[in-house]
Amino acid sequence: MTESTDAFAALRWLIEAGADEAIDEEPRNRLETPAAAPRMAEVVQAAPVAAAPEARVPSEPRQTAPTKRPAAVPIELESLDAAHANARALAASCASLDDLKTAMARFDGCSLRHTAKNLVFADGNPAAPVMFVGEAPGADEDREGLPFVGVSGQLLDRMMASVGLDRTNTYITNIIAWRPPGNRKPTSAEVTTCLPFVERHIELVNPKVLVLVGGTATSALLQRAEGITRLRGRWLQWKEHVPTLALYHPAYLLRTPAQKRQAWQDLQALRKKLTELGV
Ligand code: URA
Repeated sequence: MTESTDAFAALRWLIEAGADEAIDEEPRNRLETPAAAPRMAEVVQAAPVAAAPEARVPSEPRQTAPTKRPAAVPIELESLDAAHANARALAASCASLDDLKTAMARFDGCSLRHTAKNLVFADGNPAAPVMFVGEAPGADEDREGLPFVGVSGQLLDRMMASVGLDRTNTYITNIIAWRPPGNRKPTSAEVTTCLPFVERHIELVNPKVLVLVGGTATSALLQRAEGITRLRGRWLQWKEHVPTLALYHPAYLLRTPAQKRQAWQDLQALRKKLTELGV
């Protein structure tokens, strides 16, 4: 093989693996540990509040992290905490959806914004009684700046239409407002950082019913250990006062059409609840 066919084969392999965006000028080995960086075990042992007492081995000498930092919290965790605290303070200061959108557009604590084309804030009617919350924008949503406009969005529209809902009587957003490169799942750090924004978003819209689309949105907002298979179709509460239903994500239903039957049952439960609430 020539060098160029090798390069094309490597590129094709990367694209098939989902790495379809160039993020830096040069490739970086993110798995490589820099020589001077403290190992996680050392850091956790040295941090005064990091580990539960029973998690320490008493006979082991306490090690100090090889840095001058007083509380050796890993830099990544420190900046994650700072980003989350910043997002929480910013979100709390927003008195309207416009404020929230502006605050999110200025927020620099989530690196996804650097690779995304657009902030994907929301679509639909903010005065609607039903609010849908999905995972994160894909390529189509990123291009248009609107949630659920790609193939899974088209299925979501059909699911909503089956129970008399559309974008005039619902409001739609995601737990993450920027597209993760290559449509990968958002990391838990990204979800944690951005959570204050979506929580404030829900508070400001104040829906009568919340619908969580897929496992990522469900576990982020309900903080439950069970997966979507166990949580879907059951009436749960967000912040102990908003009736909340989790649905299978339409992207999952496109890959696993056999589950559509259950999804349609869950939509009937949504219709019943809305009728009970006079919506
Ligand atoms: N999937 C989501 O969860 N949200 C979107 O906006 C699009 C696809």
